[in-house]
Amino acid sequence: MPVNLPIVEKTLEQLGADTPERVAALFVKVRAEFDREIAAVADDAARKQFRDAWLGRKAGVLTLVTDNWLKPASPALKPVVGQGLNELRSHVESSIKRRRAEIERQSAERAAAAERLDLSLPGIARAVGTRHLVRQTLDEIEAIFLRLGFAVVEGPEIETTYYNFEALNMPELHPARDMWDTFYVDTPTGGPGQLVLRTHTSPVQIRTMERQPPPVRVIVPGKVYRRDNPDASHLFMFHQIEGLAVDQDLTFADFKGTIEFFVHEFLGKNARTRLRPSYFPFTEPSAEVDATCIVCSGRGCRVCKQTGWMEIMGAGMVDPAVYGFVGYDPKQLSGFAFGMGVDRLALLKQGIGDIQVLQQNDVRFLRQYP
Ligand code: DAH
Repeated sequence: MPVNLPIVEKTLEQLGADTPERVAALFVKVRAEFDREIAAVADDAARKQFRDAWLGRKAGVLTLVTDNWLKPASPALKPVVGQGLNELRSHVESSIKRRRAEIERQSAERAAAAERLDLSLPGIARAVGTRHLVRQTLDEIEAIFLRLGFAVVEGPEIETTYYNFEALNMPELHPARDMWDTFYVDTPTGGPGQLVLRTHTSPVQIRTMERQPPPVRVIVPGKVYRRDNPDASHLFMFHQIEGLAVDQDLTFADFKGTIEFFVHEFLGKNARTRLRPSYFPFTEPSAEVDATCIVCSGRGCRVCKQTGWMEIMGAGMVDPAVYGFVGYDPKQLSGFAFGMGVDRLALLKQGIGDIQVLQQNDVRFLRQYP
């Protein structure tokens, strides 16, 4: 913004200002021009240009006044010009400063108006997730066994046939392998390196005993896989919790006491337990554990097929042959093991008829188990 002030280009002599009054009148003109121009300075860029035009060292108005008016002034007028110049300088400096603050305030106000926040508007509710019913059931079962001194361990879901079958006392071609419809993973070799998706959590029994000397007291929560077509009572992936206790002198009574404690804690003090003889290659004797049907409290209903009982786990005393695979001495040790289907237990406890709802992730279902 060029300053429109030809008088500052001239000397006092050229302007005919030879008395203090005339000098003062010139300063009044300069000041009036300054006040007129500063009113038009509207933003920061204009303010900077304006400041240079007035205060710039080389060709600013104040420099010109110094060079053209003050320096050549006669000794009689010099003090008058000096005083006028000082007053002008302080007016210019303080006015520009004030203008700057005004511009800043105005632009802050404009910005605030542009993003005005209406605190009375309703907020956006974020949906918060919860633990899945299966996770809740796993946590509940784990907590019960943790109180009995069991530790939680885990193992791989992709497993070798050695751990999934062989070391559990099922050599290749053993018919008991057919108890589990198995997903085989394509591997170039086949044979002992053959990989499967584990069909149960029992292989972690072997992995645990390989890793640590007795005594052992662990539970193993995790996912297992079976080649089943999904229906109301089957999923090809579900959850088990395995248990294993090995020590000197563990007996069938210890096994029964542990299971009864679990059933009371999980299903309530009124729930009763019953054992039925069964067969698993890695336990001897083997049993299936039933608990009082919680839907009908044992009176008989559709869920328990009128028996009053529901099957909750497979179990037994660890077969001595299993110890041979992990270097434990079967003459010194005894133990029990069990395995339960967590998804099924969750269904039974909640009175849900179709296992597939656990994996459909329908929020109308999930919201019922916050
Ligand atoms: N692994 C068995 C299954 O998936 C369940 C089972 C039975 C686990 C007996 C055990 C056991 O530890 O002792 O059907």
